[in-house]
Amino acid sequence: MNDTSNLAMEDRQVENLWEEAPNLIVRAEGLGKHVTTSDGRLDILTAVDLSIKPGETLAIVGASGSGKSTLLGLLAGLDLPSEGRIWLADACLTDLDEDGRARVRGRNVGFVFQSFQLLPNLTALENAILPLELAGADNARAQGLAMLTRVGLEHRIKHYPRQLSGGEQQRVALARAFIGEPRILFADEPTGNLDQRTGQTIIELLFELNQEKDTTLVLVTHDPALASRCERTIRLEGGRIVDPG
Ligand SMILES: Nc1ncnc2c1ncn2[C@@H]1O[C@H](COP(=O)(O)OP(=O)(O)OP(=O)(O)O)[C@@H](O)[C@H]1O
Ligand SMILES: [Mg+2]
Repeated sequence: MNDTSNLAMEDRQVENLWEEAPNLIVRAEGLGKHVTTSDGRLDILTAVDLSIKPGETLAIVGASGSGKSTLLGLLAGLDLPSEGRIWLADACLTDLDEDGRARVRGRNVGFVFQSFQLLPNLTALENAILPLELAGADNARAQGLAMLTRVGLEHRIKHYPRQLSGGEQQRVALARAFIGEPRILFADEPTGNLDQRTGQTIIELLFELNQEKDTTLVLVTHDPALASRCERTIRLEGGRIVDPG
C-alpha cells in the first residue's frame, strides 16, 4: 500500500474513532484471544470490553495466568486479538498492519516491563533516547541527559545495562518510556524483579513522571497496595473481566 492510501486509511480511522468513541484514549470491544496448542484450543481472553479515558490511571489485577500481560499487549498494539476491535489514541489498531501499529505505538505509547528490556549493547543514554532517535528528533542527546538526570542517573549515562543494578536499569527504562512524552504508558509488573524498597522508589518515580507528563497509565500488578494508587482497578479471572472497576 502506498503512503497516500495509508494516510487516507488513517484519516478514516480518526473519523471512526470520533464517531464511535469520543473522549477515550483506549477502547476495546469484544476482545478474544485464542491459540491452538497440542491439547487443543486455549482461550486466553474472552469477551473483554474496556474503555480508558485520557489521563486515567488503571490497574489490571488477577492471578498468574489470568491473561493480564496478553491484554496489555493487545491494548498496546503489540499483538492482534483473535476477535474484537481495539482503538488506541486516534487509530483503530485492529484495522492496521504491523507497520501501521508500530507507527501508532511510536507516536503514543511508552512501555515499562518487569524485565527492563534494555538493549545490552547500548549505554544508559543510548537506551533512554532510542524512541527519539527512531522518531528522528534532533536534540535527542540533550533530552536524554535531562531525562536521565530526572530519574537520578546523571552519573551512569555511559554505563551498559550489565553494569547497572536492577533498580538503575528500571530507571533507564522509565526514562526511555517517558522521553517521547507518550499519551499512554503501559507497565507490566514494573517492580516484579526488584526488592521491596527499590520497587517502592521506582513506583514513586513512575507516578511522579506520570503526573508531571499527564500520561494515561495502565498498570499490571499483583500488589493490591500498588493497584489502590490507581483511580480504577479491573480484575481478570480466566481471561474474563470479573470486576470492571
Ligand atoms: N502464545 C501463547 N501460546 C500458548 N499459551 C499462551 C500464549 N500466550 C499466553 N498463553 C497462556 O495464556 C495464559 C495467560 O497468559 P498471560 O501471560 O497473559 O498471564 P498473566 O496474567 O500475565 O500471568 P502472570 O501474572 O504470571 O504474568 C497463560 O496460561 C499462558 O500460559
Ligand atoms: Mg504477565
